[in-house]
Amino acid sequence: MTGATEQWSSRAAFVAAAVGSAVGLGNFWRFSYVAGENGGGAFVIVYILAAFFLIAPILLAEFVIGRRGGGGVLTAPANVARESGRPSAWVAIGWLGILAAAIIPAFYIVVAGWVLAYIGVAASGALAGISGEAADALFSSLLADPVQVLIYQNAFLAMTFAVVAAGVHAGLERVNLILVPTLFLALVGLGIYAASVGDQAAAIDFLFRPDWSELTAQGVLAAIGQGFFSISVGMGAMMTFGAYAPRSFPLPSSVAMIVVADTLVALLAGLAIFPIVFGHGLDPASGPGLMFVTLPVALGALDAATLVATIFFVLLFFAALTSAISLMEVPVAVMCERGFVRWQAAALVSGVYAGLGILCALSFSTFANVHPLGFIPTFEGRTWFDIFDFIGTNILLPLGGILIAALVGWGMVAGLATREADFGDGWLGVLWLWLLRTLCPVAVGAVLIVNLVPA
Ligand code: PFF
Repeated sequence: MTGATEQWSSRAAFVAAAVGSAVGLGNFWRFSYVAGENGGGAFVIVYILAAFFLIAPILLAEFVIGRRGGGGVLTAPANVARESGRPSAWVAIGWLGILAAAIIPAFYIVVAGWVLAYIGVAASGALAGISGEAADALFSSLLADPVQVLIYQNAFLAMTFAVVAAGVHAGLERVNLILVPTLFLALVGLGIYAASVGDQAAAIDFLFRPDWSELTAQGVLAAIGQGFFSISVGMGAMMTFGAYAPRSFPLPSSVAMIVVADTLVALLAGLAIFPIVFGHGLDPASGPGLMFVTLPVALGALDAATLVATIFFVLLFFAALTSAISLMEVPVAVMCERGFVRWQAAALVSGVYAGLGILCALSFSTFANVHPLGFIPTFEGRTWFDIFDFIGTNILLPLGGILIAALVGWGMVAGLATREADFGDGWLGVLWLWLLRTLCPVAVGAVLIVNLVPA
C-alpha cells in the first residue's frame, strides 16, 4: 500500500540521498560547538551510544512508516496506524514534523549563509596564513553586518528553493553520489593537516577521554538531541525519503551505512577542528561560532590555502544544501499531496523560512540581547537563534522520535513491523522491536522529563 508515485532509481541513490540529508552543518558546525560546550569526551560517548542504540532503530522505524504508509508525513503515519486498527491521532507525528520543519531551517539557513559568505572570503585569499585572533575578528565583523548576513542566507534559501521546486530526484541523486564521498576524503586530509598545525594530542584527549564530572543532565539531552539532528531523525525527512524506496531495498543495512557514515564525519570534523582550538588557545565552549573561527586557521595554514579553503567551504555548502533540501521536502511533499503545484508549495515554505530566519540572523547583532523566553528558567539568556535551535533539536526531534518508536514498536500488528523492516524472524528483529518498545521511549522520555519538567 504505497501512495508515493516517485521512486529512487537505485539503492545507491536512496542511501546517498539519506546520507546527504544526514551529513550537513550538524556534523561540522553543530557537533563541534555542542561537544565543546559540554566538556568533550563524556558527551561524545553518550552521543555515539545514542546514535547507535536510540536513533538508528528510530531511523529504521521512520523508513518503515514511510515505505509502508507511503506519501508525506501526514499520510504515512495515519495509513500505518489505520492498517493496524489504531486511531488516526497518530497523525500527530506528522504535525510535530511539520513544526520542526518550520523551526529548524530558520536557524539552519543562517549558518548556511555564513558558509556561503566564507566561500567568498576564502576565494579572496583572506584566509591564507590567518591567525586565531584575525579569524575571530573576521567572523565578528560578518555577524555585525546584518544586511550582509541576510543577503547570504536568502541566497542559500533561494538555491534550496530552486532544487526543491525542480523536483528532488534527478538532480539530487547525482549530486549526492559525487559529493558525499568527496567531502569525506577532504575531511580526512584536513584532519591530518589540522593535526600538524594544531595540538592533536589535546584534541584527542578532549574528544575521547571522558571526564564524567563534566556531564550534566542538560549535556545528556544535548547529546541525544544532536544525534537526532545529525542523523535527520524525528521529523519525517527520512520518512518522506522512505516513501520513495521500493520494497526491494534492504532497510537495515541502509540504516547501518547512514549512521556509520554520519558518525564518522562528525568525529573527523572534530579531529579537524579541536587541534586548532587547543593549539591556538581558543575556548572550546565559545558557542555557535566555533567552526568559523577554527577552520579558517586550519585551512589558512596549508600551502595552497586559498584554493583548498575555497574548495572546502564549497563542499560544506553542498553538504548544507542537501540537508536543507530534505528539510524543505517535508512540508512541500505534504502540500503537493494536497494539490499544490510543487514550485508554489516550495515558494510558500521558503517565505516562512525567510521570515523566521530574520529573527535568527539578527540574534548575533540587533537582537543579541533579546531573550524572548527569559522568564522560563530553561530559556534564560537564550536568543531567538538559541530558542529555535533548542526547541527544534532538543524537544521536537526527540518527541517525534518517541512517537515514531511507539507507533512501529507498539502500534503495528505483531510481525508486520519486522517483516516490513526486512528482518524476518531473526534475533536482530527481536532486538530492534525491544529497543523501539522500551529503551528508546524510556531513555529519550526520561531525559526529556528530567530536563524540561521543573523539579
Ligand atoms: N542532519 C542535518 C545536519 O546534520 O546538518 C540537519 C537535518 C536535516 C536535521 C534534516 C533534520 C532533518 F530532518
